[in-house]
Formats: sequence, C-alpha cells, structure tokens
Amino acid sequence: MSSDPVKQEYARLAGQYDSRWSFYVQATTQATLSRLNLHPGDRILDLGCGTGTLIQTLLQIAPEVQVVGLDPVAEMLNLARQKLPTAVELKLGSATDLPFANHSFDVLVSTSAFHYIRDPEQAIQEMQRVLKPGGRLVMTDWCYDYWTCQLLDFWLRLFNRAHFRTYRAAQVQTLLQAAGFERVVVERYKINWLWGMMTAQALTAK
Ligand SMILES: C[S@@+](CC[C@H](N)C(=O)[O-])C[C@H]1O[C@@H](n2cnc3c(N)ncnc32)[C@H](O)[C@@H]1O
Repeated sequence: MSSDPVKQEYARLAGQYDSRWSFYVQATTQATLSRLNLHPGDRILDLGCGTGTLIQTLLQIAPEVQVVGLDPVAEMLNLARQKLPTAVELKLGSATDLPFANHSFDVLVSTSAFHYIRDPEQAIQEMQRVLKPGGRLVMTDWCYDYWTCQLLDFWLRLFNRAHFRTYRAAQVQTLLQAAGFERVVVERYKINWLWGMMTAQALTAK
C-alpha cells in the first residue's frame, strides 16, 4: 500500500464516498457548475475529480464538452470510470505534476481538492501551464474565514494525516494573483450551518 496519506485515506474511503458525502458533493458541485461559463467545444479538466460526480453532472447539462478527470487515487478513479461514458478520459496523477501538455484546456475546474495539496504554489503554476491563454479557472474548496471550518481544520490537522490546510479567501486570491492569474474573484458562501465554502474564478493572460 502507498505511504502517501491522501492515497491511503481515499483508497479506504472510496467505496463509501458517494453515499457518505452526497449532500456536500451535490451542493458543492451545483455551486461550482453555476459559476462555470461554458462554451461549445470547451475542453475541461476536473482536477481532483474523485468519483466523477461533477463530470457526470456537467455532461448532463453540456453533453457537447470534452472532459478529462485527474486524481491521484486509483480507487476513486475506478468508481468514476463506472459512472462515466468511455469518452471521458481519466488520468492518474497529481496537481503538482500534471500529465498534460502546455495549453491543453479551456477550463480547469476543481472541487474540494485544494486543501490536500502539499505544494499549492506548484499546483497553481501547473494549473496555469495546462490552461490555454485566456483559459478559465473555477476552484471550490472550504474556506478558513468561517469559524466552523477553522475548527474542522484544527481537528483534522491533529487527527487526519491526509489533511493539509485550508485557506482564507484572501489567501487564495493572493496565491492566484502571484502566479499571474488575472481577474481573480473569490466568492464565499455557506451550503449549510457547517460548511463555509469559497469558489475562486480567474483567467490566464491572453
Ligand atoms: C474531497 S475529495 C473531492 C472529490 C471530487 N472533486 C468531489 O467534489 O467529489 C478530494 C479529492 O482530491 C484528490 N486529491 C488529493 N490530493 C490531490 C492532488 N495532489 N492532486 C489532485 N487531486 C488530489 C483526492 O484523491 C480526492 O479524490
């Protein structure tokens, strides 16, 4: 078995992930998709796609787009494979070393994966590298601005080796701007009393 705590955690959780997290995944998927401004023919990367729920939902509303999912955990991708059409490419890999050529995607979307990434600056550079000029980033994660998420972050740092850290909206804004993303907007919102979320939207330079 891998010594990577994220791989260990999600290899163990994969089979229960969809049922255990159904409310959270539905709510965050909807919040994220409502902020994706898709164009016909867009090529989209879902970074940290997990079991593929966002891709499945996206294809119901925009069947003409091309989607690729990436995740480091084979057990999560196996479940995504069972849910998704064979035309959807699924790749094993990490956000910090994306297995794609420069300028491969019009849109990069990601939900609830950023707080696991050990080297966020490197991941953001990779996001920028694989997006085309003028490409769009839409990234949702839970947000440290909310006290409930501060408590969760504190607890998870103590007891869950897979967890890395959560960010304030302003920190994500700064990370994206420092990497050269333009028109960065980070919106905060709650999906219930517990989960305070944020969705960052940004563009690569043209
Ligand atoms: C909470 S799940 C979210 C899955 C899916 N995006 C969703 O919203 O249901 C977090 C996912 O991030 C993935 N992940 C963790 N570290 C990652 C990394 N360095 N690069 C890409 N994905 C990562 C995990 O394997 C897991 O599938």
